[in-house]
Amino acid sequence: MLWLTLTSLNITPSLVGRALGSVRSASAVSGAIQSALGHHKALAEYVEHYAGLCNPDALHVCDGSEGEYTTFMETMVEDGSMFKLNEAKRPNSYLARSDPRDVARSEESTFISCVNEEDAGPTNNWRDPVEMKATMANLYKDCMVGRTMFVVPFSMGPIGGPISHIGVQLTDSMHVAASMRLMTRMGKAPLEALGTDGEFVKCMHSVGYPLADGKADVAWPCDPDNKYITHYPEENLAESYGSGYGGNSLLGKKAFALRLASAMGKREGWLAEHMLILGVTNPEGKKKYVAAAFPSACGKTNFAMLEPTMPGWKVECVGDDIAWMKFGPDGKLYAINPENGFFGVAPGTSMGTNPNAMRSLDRDCIYTNVAMTADGDVWWEGMTEETPEGMTNWLGEPHNPASNTPAAHPNSRFTVPIANCPVLDPNFEALEGVPIDAIMFGGRRPTTIPLVHEAFSWNHGVLMGASVASEKTAAATGDDIGEIRHDPFAMLPFCGYNMGDYFQHWIDMGKTEGAKLPSMYLVNWFRQDPETGKFIWPGFGENSRVLKWIFERTDGVTDNAAKTPIGYVPTPDALDTDGLAGITNDELTELLRVDPDAWQREINQSDEYLTSTFGPKLPAELKNEIESLKKSF
Ligand SMILES: *[C@@H]1O[C@H](CO)[C@@H](O)[C@H](O)[C@H]1NC(C)=O
Repeated sequence: MLWLTLTSLNITPSLVGRALGSVRSASAVSGAIQSALGHHKALAEYVEHYAGLCNPDALHVCDGSEGEYTTFMETMVEDGSMFKLNEAKRPNSYLARSDPRDVARSEESTFISCVNEEDAGPTNNWRDPVEMKATMANLYKDCMVGRTMFVVPFSMGPIGGPISHIGVQLTDSMHVAASMRLMTRMGKAPLEALGTDGEFVKCMHSVGYPLADGKADVAWPCDPDNKYITHYPEENLAESYGSGYGGNSLLGKKAFALRLASAMGKREGWLAEHMLILGVTNPEGKKKYVAAAFPSACGKTNFAMLEPTMPGWKVECVGDDIAWMKFGPDGKLYAINPENGFFGVAPGTSMGTNPNAMRSLDRDCIYTNVAMTADGDVWWEGMTEETPEGMTNWLGEPHNPASNTPAAHPNSRFTVPIANCPVLDPNFEALEGVPIDAIMFGGRRPTTIPLVHEAFSWNHGVLMGASVASEKTAAATGDDIGEIRHDPFAMLPFCGYNMGDYFQHWIDMGKTEGAKLPSMYLVNWFRQDPETGKFIWPGFGENSRVLKWIFERTDGVTDNAAKTPIGYVPTPDALDTDGLAGITNDELTELLRVDPDAWQREINQSDEYLTSTFGPKLPAELKNEIESLKKSF
């Protein structure tokens, strides 16, 4: 473990800035930093630049070792920023409670800073990069006084793989440095892989709570009134300030792996997507891989590791959130999960909804904002039917079961290494990724959209992705039933450039010479009985029946689908319903029904949204798809 503290280097706490009669020259500091960073000149310059600006007391280059992680956790338990959970119940696991003003991703504080505003597009907050850098430099000035700056080298994807990329995060949060070890391949190995001139993505982060003039630290330092998560896609740089929560601070995730990577993929001819990846194996042992995009609250994590209800079928998880995809030499689209851990929403996760997630959480977790039981274990709404007595809520107060406030924050999280997943796919570490046979899109739609249908073509599938939406249901709001919220490709908050250009990039990927394109599907687990409002499809493990149909479609079976104006829909007997309880033939018919009137309204609605939002940036190919759908009725 390398603790490169300034004291141990016998130099003043000012790296580049103030020279307080230092016994060592700035060049000696530079030399020490360079040697700690493997003499990678650009990396040393990056570290020196921000260290000079932020003025930390010490610098720590993370090696990613278990010893280092243990030291981090012990240090945080000691200073009160982390609770050690009951070792007998939840080994090697910890709980952190955030500042109540810092509990989620902050979309209103998330920016895309590129030279031309049009390149950020209508769905992003654009800022001029020069102005934004000045704002950030102002905030970063001396923001790490009294703190350590952690240098966190990490690889997104298996180190050295053709789809993988390396990033280096700078942060003044030990919690973030520790979490990066759970979420990425972090430390010495990616640093060595960089060599002396390897390319890396810059991820700069500060919680924004300097400890000047003896100011005492707090358990969850942040600057809630000055949050910025800003991205410079033209420079492979993200800068974040003021938040220590989730994607605001673990910059490998949404900031790098989606916002910056989507722009890299556009430039370099690959895809960075908000998609889970799973492998599905039939009883004969044949295996296929599927990537799937769903907006939030559509059961993505549950689907990524579902337990099939059909005997002999197996589902294995490659990833639950992000897919990077590139065409391989054989023309197939290969995908990796760039992450190395799960950062999932805790409430609602149970042995009933997601047994494999629950089994992943037995040990080695960092929990944030869940409730703690009287015996030092964790709890959240939905975990068990009964609410345990004597809990401490996410704010650290005694939980009052009679109150209407939840014990765990609705966005409370678990952070856990993916190796803990009992159904982790054996090809998770495959350098070249896994070959994708099908791409699925889904939304939460009480009406209109059948359980599953297959696109006629790649471009039609791109239109499906662009039209992804969720509809508010009666249960959610009461009065604005029918309001449709569009979330193209489930990428709305995550596309780092103009989403019209993003659609065009998908279209262009489909024109790749020699490509063997995956088939595309739209699914909807949430269709409701128009009379009773009850969900018709049981969902969860039963979704494997839809996977089976998709498996068979991609395997060349053709007599299992009816051609409708909107695509191929399973014939009623093509869906395996053996052992599927509680669903009548009429309900099955309703689930698969394509209502021409509702669909014409649907197409008009998508057209109106896409045209009014993206204007001239809406690709001609998508306009053609819309027109031909309109004519097909
Ligand atoms: C859809 O829009 C077309 C014009 O593009 C219009 O003629 C038609 O009536 C609309 N259909 C529905 C069901 O709203």
